[in-house]
Amino acid sequence: MDPHPPDAAAPEASPAPVKLEFSEVAKSFEHDSQTVAALRPVSLRVHAGEFVVLFGPSGCGKSTLLNLVAGFETPTSGTITLDGKAIDGPGNDRLMMFQEHALFPWLNVIDNVMYGLRWEPGFRFRPHARRRKALELLHLVHLDEFAKSSIHELSGGMRQRVALARALAPDPKVLLIDEPFPALDALVRAKLYIELQDILVRTHKTIMSVTHDPREAACLGDRVVIFTGRPGRIRSEVRVDLPRPRDINSPEVAEHAGRINAQLEAANEEPSGSEA
Ligand SMILES: Nc1ncnc2c1ncn2[C@@H]1O[C@H](COP(=O)(O)OP(=O)(O)OP(=O)(O)O)[C@@H](O)[C@H]1O
Ligand SMILES: [Mg+2]
Repeated sequence: MDPHPPDAAAPEASPAPVKLEFSEVAKSFEHDSQTVAALRPVSLRVHAGEFVVLFGPSGCGKSTLLNLVAGFETPTSGTITLDGKAIDGPGNDRLMMFQEHALFPWLNVIDNVMYGLRWEPGFRFRPHARRRKALELLHLVHLDEFAKSSIHELSGGMRQRVALARALAPDPKVLLIDEPFPALDALVRAKLYIELQDILVRTHKTIMSVTHDPREAACLGDRVVIFTGRPGRIRSEVRVDLPRPRDINSPEVAEHAGRINAQLEAANEEPSGSEA
């Protein structure tokens, strides 16, 4: 059983095996000889192929949680396992897509994607294989025609798709997405979200993402985990059982977004440190 029962209308939990398991994971930072609690103990299971969105007020520890999965930070207490093995540092089985998409402007599109494969055992000394794989990934993100383009020639949405292709290049088991879909115009955004679901469903990746946008959470997530304010703990979950691809502007997504927002408001009203 997951420690956070989903809301009443939710269907049965996914029967897929557990990919990531967080057991009482807490994190605090030492700053100016003071201890800052970033995350209170969090217990959560993420199943293979599941898309879990973390949602909560600024500073509640969402990025911290992703950094712990990536192995960039270590928990102060508790454990995180991937396929039953404790995470004890960074690894290519987990890949993070950051807020700023961190493409190399001096490399063209295909070279940016090939860069994601440079240390992979099957590709390291095989530039042709790297190029073939990079072209496959560009096909997946619908950018075949832009392989030789410079990064500055691409729109914001296209850059995000290049970043996604690069993140998918080493075939990670887990994709970690920290708010990489900021201000895009409404039409580009709706199209990107449809494409994103198509790509992600086809790759069967296990995904954890962070957003401040309840519609994005409802559009992308199978499950949205809502945090309280800093130091965060999980307050509740909203399961989104809508068929894919979902249109971010649809009334069904809006209805779920409303429920997610209501949970956030309730979390904000609780006094900090509340164990409700
Ligand atoms: N490396 C660090 N050193 C010290 N404090 C940190 C560090 N990283 C995060 N924190 C603190 O931990 C808390 C949680 O930060 P975190 O970045 O995880 O929040 P967040 O939920 O991602 O916020 P936002 O929505 O604004 O991105 C904050 O108080 C932050 O100042
Ligand atoms: Mg953050």
